[in-house]
Amino acid sequence: MKVIQVKHAQEGGKQAFAQLKEAMDKGITTLGLATGSTPVTLYQEMVTSALDFSHLTSVNLDEYVGLSGENPQSYRYFMNEHLFNKKPFKETFVPNGQAKDLDEECARYNDIIAQHPIDLQVLGIGRNGHIGFNEPGTSFDVQTHVVALTDSTIEANKRYFDSIEEVPTHALSMGIASILKSKQIILMAFGKEKAAAVAKMIEGPVTEQLPASVLQMHPNVIVIVDEQAASELTK
Ligand code: PGA
Repeated sequence: MKVIQVKHAQEGGKQAFAQLKEAMDKGITTLGLATGSTPVTLYQEMVTSALDFSHLTSVNLDEYVGLSGENPQSYRYFMNEHLFNKKPFKETFVPNGQAKDLDEECARYNDIIAQHPIDLQVLGIGRNGHIGFNEPGTSFDVQTHVVALTDSTIEANKRYFDSIEEVPTHALSMGIASILKSKQIILMAFGKEKAAAVAKMIEGPVTEQLPASVLQMHPNVIVIVDEQAASELTK
């Protein structure tokens, strides 16, 4: 893992954007994208850049079960607002949280990933070390799956909803096995509340109890952290 320390999230977005540009110069075709507060500065850089993304396909990590793409709390809505409405892509994929048969939707999404192998995957990390919605204890071998969100994740995400009762309890998420197939991974983490997870991800054992630790096994990972998120690293 290559670790790049930056001052703050703004600088982190610029760093991630520089990496993306470099990958685009090499001719990548498919981005794996993430939601949450972490990638927002990267998306701002993309939106304000002169770059054209209309030849790229994007495949998002996850979506809440039960929310339609018109719901402002859905990840489809988030992606449209922060990126796709401003910078058109060739094709954009987000799991369908309203699918009647969720297992079928997982299989459909696996097919999409197989047809559009991800060149560059953007990731955040949860306070409990999750990537995508792969919570602690998730097998490293799973592909897209239905996830019961942990209390810690529901608590962290309630800030986007009027009340904690409105936070969906389940999500569809690309699995760890799918994430590991990406050719390159950029994980960003900003803020003190990510420091413990970042330290365990980089310096701790590879364990399903800390899903992001699996990235130690991937040959091409760049971690971009601000000073606070890096504060518990010892090396
Ligand atoms: P955040 O979420 O970017 O909103 O902190 C990251 C995550 O939970 O993966």
